[in-house]
Amino acid sequence: MNREKWTVQRILDAKGRCRIGALTAYDYPMARLLDEAGVPLLLVGDSLGMVVLGYPDTTHVSMADMVHHVRAVARARPTALVGADLPYGSYDTPERALTHARELQAAGADFVKAEGGVEILPQIRAILAAGIPFCGHLGMLPQHVLEEGGKYRIKGRDEAGRLRLLSDARELEQAGAFACVLELVTPPVARELTAACPRMVTIGIGSGPDCDGQILVTPDLVGGFPWFTPRFVTPQARTGEEIRAAASQWLQGLNPPS
Ligand code: KIV
Repeated sequence: MNREKWTVQRILDAKGRCRIGALTAYDYPMARLLDEAGVPLLLVGDSLGMVVLGYPDTTHVSMADMVHHVRAVARARPTALVGADLPYGSYDTPERALTHARELQAAGADFVKAEGGVEILPQIRAILAAGIPFCGHLGMLPQHVLEEGGKYRIKGRDEAGRLRLLSDARELEQAGAFACVLELVTPPVARELTAACPRMVTIGIGSGPDCDGQILVTPDLVGGFPWFTPRFVTPQARTGEEIRAAASQWLQGLNPPS
């Protein structure tokens, strides 16, 4: 197996050749395990807020939270390309976006990700002009869930939505984003965006099979957050149940029936 460090160029070269697998990681052991499994791209996502920190949504995640967890993942020295989310409220101006992107990079991120299209282009340009690789995030934007009435809605269902996504994706590619997460985009529109952007890889989540890559929140994949599993995920393990069983067996062993 090729254990060379994954670079942005290596990820771009995979477009049209093989599907890119990406998973979230928030701490040292998970980053090591996923890296040893050969996952090319690890994202310290702000899903951290729900699946690790117990917040109801991602809007509560701070820069301090992100930096703490990016450092933990970076300590695993993964060969995977490591990305980090700019959290809610951290990229409302180009200056703040750049300051915070630099902080995440200093903590060990190889690239940063932020949610939105043309409305955050000045922020994206500032980040890219400083030489920090950037990944976009279009479709359902979890940092806007409260504006959406608390619902995670599918995007691209009507013509206006399709055209907006297409124009956002093209603008991101033109600005120099190397990748873009497509979250809860209708599969035909995700396929169209993937074909329309030859210099940017699309990484789908709940957006059908025809993206350049797929990303999942790792606890969803391994049953590590058993209280909620998105409809589009089939867990491959039941680690939550195993932890409960191990702890309860150990407790019973402390006080065996006499
Ligand atoms: O926060 C996150 O984990 C993400 C992925 C779901 C793409 O943005």
